[in-house]
Amino acid sequence: MTDRILIAPSILSADFTRLGSEVEALSALEADWVHLDIMDGHFVPNITFGAPMCRALRPVSGLVFDAHLMVAEPAKWVPAFAEAGADVITIHREADPHAHRTLQLIRSLGKKAGVALNPATSENDIEYLLDDADLILVMSVNPGFGGQKFIDAVLPKIERIRNMCAKRGLDPFIEVDGGVNEKTAKLCRDAGANVLVAGNAVFKAPDRAEMISILRGN
Ligand code: DX5
Ligand code: ZN
Repeated sequence: MTDRILIAPSILSADFTRLGSEVEALSALEADWVHLDIMDGHFVPNITFGAPMCRALRPVSGLVFDAHLMVAEPAKWVPAFAEAGADVITIHREADPHAHRTLQLIRSLGKKAGVALNPATSENDIEYLLDDADLILVMSVNPGFGGQKFIDAVLPKIERIRNMCAKRGLDPFIEVDGGVNEKTAKLCRDAGANVLVAGNAVFKAPDRAEMISILRGN
């Protein structure tokens, strides 16, 4: 497991009127990844933005672009995000009966392949996908909106996934997304997560750099 904890601010909570400068500023704040929440109004009850936004933002930042696809039939959209400059492309297990094939598609396009689990989805649902995933995203809220309360019940799931992977000699990124703040970040790190998404915690903080450092556990 990577010792370093990576922080991925979710731009869903950024100021949309000046998204370019919000993303550009993240490097100086020592964020590691830029988390892009893609919602289609079908898989989740909200709509955000698509691949054109990813493409537009790509030139303003050298950070890893982490595209979280909360969309039905994600395989249809994978090539567009790969072409738009996403580095990590994560699909939801619940949205794709052919998740194995889609993860392979993502890797074939030279990108890191992620699979996400809603709070109600068991880690058993990814048991046969582990070899094909570079990242497991454990949702700690029901996807659709920023600013929700962290669901503590997912903590044992993070630990089980970390153990499942270790037993198989695998070391994927384990990312947690939803309600991550000063308090819950520590719980996630202790459970074995090494990528923490944070929307409101970072973008609504008076001192964003300080918050990023606190979330990382420094
Ligand atoms: C929820 C999104 C999250 C969300 C995180 O559907 O996937 O990335 O924006 O926001 P916070 O950290 O505010 O819960
Ligand atoms: Zn997300």
